[in-house]
Amino acid sequence: MIIGNNIIYLKETTSTMDVCKQLASDKFEEGTVVIANYQNSGRGRFNRVWISPAGINLHVSILLSPTFDQMKYLNMAATLAVIDTIKKITNIPSQIKWPNDVQVNGKKISGILIESELSTTNINYSVVGIGLNINLNPQEFPEISNFATSLKNETKLFINRSTVLHTLIKFFDHYYNIIKQNKSLTKKWGDYLNTIGRNIEISFTDKPGEQTISGLAHSVNEDGSLNLKLDDNSLLTVSAGEITINKIE
Ligand code: BTN
Repeated sequence: MIIGNNIIYLKETTSTMDVCKQLASDKFEEGTVVIANYQNSGRGRFNRVWISPAGINLHVSILLSPTFDQMKYLNMAATLAVIDTIKKITNIPSQIKWPNDVQVNGKKISGILIESELSTTNINYSVVGIGLNINLNPQEFPEISNFATSLKNETKLFINRSTVLHTLIKFFDHYYNIIKQNKSLTKKWGDYLNTIGRNIEISFTDKPGEQTISGLAHSVNEDGSLNLKLDDNSLLTVSAGEITINKIE
């Protein structure tokens, strides 16, 4: 077992991502898990605020040291682990909105954030951050009420966060071991994508105010990048780090 031999519980922190990065520079072992009851500066992709009140959801970061070739599968391992955890605890199926939002009944229940420090020759560390809504009542948060859900919201049952944490660690460990054997997760991850075959509108995050592009989400590549079929039938390949999906039809 690589993941979860060392679990650090915090009552409050800025972001578990920051704590995990500090642990990386302090040479903590790979697989160390940081979990916080509350993050006062929790963040999502593209530096968006991650809204999650104290004491009801899961905020976890995991310290890893993959190779360059293994790095492309980290988000897949995390989303698959979340999907398996939700299924095991609630028996509810979930899907992935490309690249790594886990959705239940079309609403976001979990988000993944990956931050890595690279040198020219290797990866110093990667931190995989997972936010999973457990007992959140989305109706209490107008900013997210239209598109967010939680395990409790779906099942109408109070869910024990500690059980979810340990289940998540177990599944993440399973998928991370597959990655460490240099095996692919793309096929399994791709089977859960609900974006393929749909018309989407994207924008490039380094040019947010500029023109958007629309096309058919056609397929994904081995590294998880998305092929978009444009009106002139050409294919545009976009990576998770450079675009956001504005609309899905
Ligand atoms: C997203 O969907 O944009 C990603 C959200 C990631 C949230 C998690 S919560 C644990 C970790 N700490 C953070 O500050 N963010 C990630």
